[in-house]
Amino acid sequence: MKLTILGGGGFRVPLVYGALLTDRAEGRVTEVVLHDLDAGRLSAVARVLAEQAAGVPDAPAVTATTDLDEALTGADFVFSAIRVGGLEGRANDERVALAQGVLGQETVGAGGIAYGLRTVPVAVDIARRVARLAPDAWVINFTNPAGLVTEAMARHLGDRVIGICDSPVGLGRRIARVLGANPKEAWIDYVGLNHLGWVRGLRIAGRDELPRLLADPGLLGSFEEGKLFGVDWLRSLGAIPNEYLHYYYFNREAVRAYQQAEKTRGAFLRDQQARFYEAVTAPGARALDVWDRTRAEREATYMSENRETAGAGERDADDLSGGYEKVALALMRAIARDERTTLILNVRNRDTLSALDGEAVIEVPCLVDANGAHPVAVAPLPGHATGLVCAVKAVEREVLAAAESGSRTTAVKAFALHPLVDSVNVARRLVEGYTQVHPGLAYLK
Ligand code: G6P
Ligand code: MN
Repeated sequence: MKLTILGGGGFRVPLVYGALLTDRAEGRVTEVVLHDLDAGRLSAVARVLAEQAAGVPDAPAVTATTDLDEALTGADFVFSAIRVGGLEGRANDERVALAQGVLGQETVGAGGIAYGLRTVPVAVDIARRVARLAPDAWVINFTNPAGLVTEAMARHLGDRVIGICDSPVGLGRRIARVLGANPKEAWIDYVGLNHLGWVRGLRIAGRDELPRLLADPGLLGSFEEGKLFGVDWLRSLGAIPNEYLHYYYFNREAVRAYQQAEKTRGAFLRDQQARFYEAVTAPGARALDVWDRTRAEREATYMSENRETAGAGERDADDLSGGYEKVALALMRAIARDERTTLILNVRNRDTLSALDGEAVIEVPCLVDANGAHPVAVAPLPGHATGLVCAVKAVEREVLAAAESGSRTTAVKAFALHPLVDSVNVARRLVEGYTQVHPGLAYLK
């Protein structure tokens, strides 16, 4: 089984490889091909992987290439985890928006639109190549903004592209834990778009335990989302939102905190990661230790401004070890070995949410087997949530249209229609600002 990782020089690749190393079963991945545009980053990550594999019998063989077509040819699975424009691009996404007084964030609001506009054309090119060179491969998309990028790729790959995110999984795990349940035995009623979904129920042995959580302020305030959103707001909603909804429900505070931060998240990571790639390639470096220290710092500081404005304190130790690689591995196993399982994934809506058309990619629990991922029926969203989902999907559609046509006017429309952009004039200035700093937006005319 051959797995190709696009963005193979990326920092989170060792998480994926670590997960592969735990898989001893028949039909596992035996060959990993790393693809990246940057040969230096590829060799840095390959060093970490080599240390991870040391002493592990039959560890998947790793090769690296900067040739995309070569990497894709013969792949059974393709993981796409690329970052168009790098972390410098992410920092610019944040900076330009914050200068206009609106949210600059990797996936939400103006920053997410700018990132989407840069990424969609590249993702579409990849999808076309996969369709040509590895037509039977399954593509697992981690590339953000994950819902939008998955939808762009699905236009070329249909249901053979599946988007993943670790945040709904983490949310479900936390809720199950505070309720004293085994997360594996809980059925989580969650739906929305990527980074824009709500848990409306959590059934254990057929019984919905969420009302018990909502009724108990002590329990409700004891985990990440309770601290971030506050007990009263969660009880008003009657649901537990994805942590990214903090940017909507507490937008003013989040924007102010980001503006006042010494460094935005993107700028912090740009500098942190530059130090990592330098240190890890130094002669005599213990690559795995360097990587692990950097990872721990990255995890500990995740969403720190949001937590600060909410007075949420430090992250729980249990929340620090992601889970993104586990979702990826579980998905791949279910498909490759027909091991039927349920996972929250980004797939085409079909008729799950009646307010959206069938092609719209949504985030929803899916039954997964050798035939792919099939969304399960969920309860409808309340009006306020449907409103947000439809508004943001409409923005995503404008981004897709702008990427296809190269129309600057359509790009302005995408920004202007976003619920977190408060004036058409701001949208115009955002397009102005972003096209000045991003060479990847030169196609907008
Ligand atoms: C979560 C989200 C990802 C996002 C990441 C950002 O894992 O689900 O979509 O890319 O956080 O973390 P970072 O350390 O890059 O700020
Ligand atoms: Mn995500």
